[in-house]
Amino acid sequence: MTQTKQGVVQNIAGPAVIAGGMYGAKMYDIVRVGQERLVGEIIRLDGDTAFVQVYEDTSGLTVGEPVETTGLPLSVELGPGMLNGIYDGIQRPLDKIREASGDFIARGIEVSSLDRTKRWAFTPGVQAGDTVTGSSILGTVPEFSFTHKILVPPEVQGRLRWVADAGEYTIDDTIAELEDGTKLRMAHYWPVRASRPVARKLDPSLPFLTGMRILDVLFPLVMGGAAAIPGPFGSGKTVTQQSVAKYGNADIVVYVGCGERGNEMTDVLVEFPELEDPKTGGPLMHRTILIANTSNMPVAAREASVYTGITLAEYFRDQGYSVSLMADSTSRWAEALREISSRLEEMPAEEGYPPYLGAKLAAFYERAGAVTTLAGENGAVSVIGAVSPAGGDMSEPVTQATLRITGAFWRLDAGLARRRHFPAINWNGSYSLFTPILDSWYRENVGQDFPELRQRISNILQQEASLQEVVQLVGPDALQDQERLVIEAGRMLRQDFLQQNGFDPVDASASMPKNYGLMKMMLKFYDEAEAALRNGATIDDIIQNPVIEKLSRARYVAEGEFMAYGEGVMDELDVTFKNAAKGVTA
Ligand SMILES: Nc1ncnc2c1ncn2[C@@H]1O[C@H](COP(=O)(O)OP(=O)(O)O)[C@@H](O)[C@H]1O
Ligand SMILES: [Mg+2]
Repeated sequence: MTQTKQGVVQNIAGPAVIAGGMYGAKMYDIVRVGQERLVGEIIRLDGDTAFVQVYEDTSGLTVGEPVETTGLPLSVELGPGMLNGIYDGIQRPLDKIREASGDFIARGIEVSSLDRTKRWAFTPGVQAGDTVTGSSILGTVPEFSFTHKILVPPEVQGRLRWVADAGEYTIDDTIAELEDGTKLRMAHYWPVRASRPVARKLDPSLPFLTGMRILDVLFPLVMGGAAAIPGPFGSGKTVTQQSVAKYGNADIVVYVGCGERGNEMTDVLVEFPELEDPKTGGPLMHRTILIANTSNMPVAAREASVYTGITLAEYFRDQGYSVSLMADSTSRWAEALREISSRLEEMPAEEGYPPYLGAKLAAFYERAGAVTTLAGENGAVSVIGAVSPAGGDMSEPVTQATLRITGAFWRLDAGLARRRHFPAINWNGSYSLFTPILDSWYRENVGQDFPELRQRISNILQQEASLQEVVQLVGPDALQDQERLVIEAGRMLRQDFLQQNGFDPVDASASMPKNYGLMKMMLKFYDEAEAALRNGATIDDIIQNPVIEKLSRARYVAEGEFMAYGEGVMDELDVTFKNAAKGVTA
């Protein structure tokens, strides 16, 4: 073939390569760059000149080397065998790359994303004569304790002429055939930059519960919503995302690590495989896919990893599951965009970021959602993106662009982390736009008065904050007993309600009934104490009351024992302050 779609390298600027003579190449084509056949993607075309971001280290590449387009967009292969997987940004299994190239990751390596020889036990769920559409479920395959549903590729539909019997098949075996001759197997490809089509997006109505009290009570996320976790280095972004991965109500977790620093990603690669799944007692990895981009990988791969991650998440959503996608940290991706854009000498906008930064981030977060699939299943992808603003400055472009498009904003605070208040989520600086949407769910499923109790808790915390300012100015003696009670209740809410130790087996995650129980207890404490003050008790009687100790222990009480414990405390609250009041007036 002389009609080759081959050009030559004209210019190399780090991860950005300009290639001339690229006749017939298309936007977002995957190209092979140089003798080493480095993987790159065309991100701009100007006549026959292609601007390529290269996903592998370009050092040693020289002007004049060939650039060949594959004519295909960056795609992932979707099918059984991804769970428990650790991939790089373009879905190459890290262990396979290492096997193929030794410890020093060689470049241009081609490895299969999925195991092509493994045989999976397929059970058909359809039969010859059935009509199928995109995302129809052909059958199931067990993968650890997860039921992997085998999907018809989104763009395919027709009547089945033949379906394989139950049995063991590889992902390359044909397991069904349409009347038009189309052969279906257990895996298919999908281009990562295109969102997988759905029948419709659903209005969110269910919460995505995380097990973290401050989030589930004060700043809830909806199933299919997007949340941002901005915070400076060391404030708890990674711990929070791991905790949500572990305890959040998703069937499948996709964790995209965009290398903060090389060793941090290494930590994730070591820690994640050790996490225990609270649902099964087995490894969390059995329903997790890790996409790892350490900071020593080329910056362009960060972009690929984000798209690869969200596409994998959509694939499991299309099976009718709830998927959570963590991206840590989206700031590193934004920085990659900035670097590539500047290498390509594009006109910069704010702080050197390209003008399309906001549009890129929006396009990513908009792939979150609760949906009805083409085949009528309901599934959801909930996205939680970490943002690392330099110096914790929330006015910088990435944080600002992100907060415009995410519905929940969980702001981590270096000051709280320094004081060891964990999770270090600032309750004054965080918000959720989903709260009103979820009120009816909370009323029906947690407590009729839940929204009112939540409001009272916010009010006490706010009052306490302003009283603390007064104390700073004029000292505690200026306060009335009623005000000192607000301070005490605020302290209790901060320490014994908002705080949660991510490393304590009981405290790390809490159910909504437990959270509701804690809310009722603490508000009852406040109400009874306030009444006692009115009836003549002193604030010291109240602060020294032993029931406070029981309230502060409550969050460490295991779910199974919590109801009984809570009832005991509520009974005690009924009498103890009445006695205190009587004691004084007697
Ligand atoms: N929920 C938590 N419970 C207990 N400790 C926490 C919690 N969140 C953060 N930490 C502490 O803060 C440290 C830094 O958190 P990390 O998530 O690595 O920060 P970041 O990712 O924002 O740089 C952790 O190693 C841990 O000691
Ligand atoms: Mg981190």
